Amino acid sequence: WVLMVTAQTPTNIAVIKYWGKRDEDLILPINDSISVTLDPEHLCTTTTVAVSPSFDQDRMWLNGKEFSLSGGRYQRCLKEIRSRASGFEDEKKGVKITEKDWENLHVHISSYNNFPTAAGLASSAAGFACLVFSLAKLMNVKEDHGRLSAIARQGSGSACRSLYGGFAKWIMGKNDDGSDSMAVQLADEKHWDDLVIVIAVVSSRQKETSSTSGMRESVETSKLIHHRAKEVVPKRIVEMEEAIKNRDFESFAHLSCADSNQFHAVCMDTCPPIFYMNDTSHRIISCVEKWNRSEASPQVAYTFDAGPNAVLIARNRKAAALLLQRLLFHFPPRSDADLKSYVIGDKSI
Ligand code: DP6
Repeated sequence: WVLMVTAQTPTNIAVIKYWGKRDEDLILPINDSISVTLDPEHLCTTTTVAVSPSFDQDRMWLNGKEFSLSGGRYQRCLKEIRSRASGFEDEKKGVKITEKDWENLHVHISSYNNFPTAAGLASSAAGFACLVFSLAKLMNVKEDHGRLSAIARQGSGSACRSLYGGFAKWIMGKNDDGSDSMAVQLADEKHWDDLVIVIAVVSSRQKETSSTSGMRESVETSKLIHHRAKEVVPKRIVEMEEAIKNRDFESFAHLSCADSNQFHAVCMDTCPPIFYMNDTSHRIISCVEKWNRSEASPQVAYTFDAGPNAVLIARNRKAAALLLQRLLFHFPPRSDADLKSYVIGDKSI
């Protein structure tokens, strides 16, 4: 027999960024963060996990290619889920698995991303969240989303926020063992469904400095990162929660843009400096800032993760349509240009 579970998990985009760890092994951050989760149909990971007594080792395929599971982060997630597995019985299929059996049963994992891996579009977030969620279903793990998010966190920090739709907050926690470092949902996907997210794919190339090593270098060499974590982010978290609760786009846009800019300032303050954005990213920022300033209130917020691609959050569909017009005018997508395409949901232009 073979038992299989398939799950789909969208990626999330931080509007108050996680950057810097206080514990590298357990993946514990130096500040809280807040994100918006994309629509599940778009920019997501689909993972199928299977178990059978005929499998002789754990194996994984990523976008159809076999991928080594020997990395510490995968091993940790597998171990955490296995240790919480419960017995399962399906008389019709003649399957009976006891809690103890899980220790000797192996899994096969097949995962697909419908967006560029490691191009700063948070593929590790969707990937680990989906892996942990599907394995937990397969192994009949009876834990709530908060506890599962703490396991996904050990795969990749930002993954803990992808367990929820809508808006999520990763609470950094205080405990040394990480038991209180997990994500909670701030509002579900229906709460603020006017917002439209447009991603301008500036480059789908793999980034030069991974988030993991970039944030390590920032913690070691930047003074600004410590000021940010202690003095700036705690206040912003409170203000952002308030903005989300009240669907206050003006504050939301102001906080998102300011936090993205400060995160990139921290990268510049790192020695040697890390440049994730490029000229096109900077031109997109200027274009949005200029437009926002010409209106009575902001129409679009921007945020950039560890890569040059712009995540643009429009206040409503009308603003998104105008945004696309502006982008197409100022940055016509050409194969030889820096800007590759725009993505609204699953439609590329
Ligand atoms: C800039 O979660 O990819 O996207 O925990 O080392 O796997 P690791 O890092 P990762 O870092 C994400 C950084 C960010 C900001 C964010 O998502 O909050």
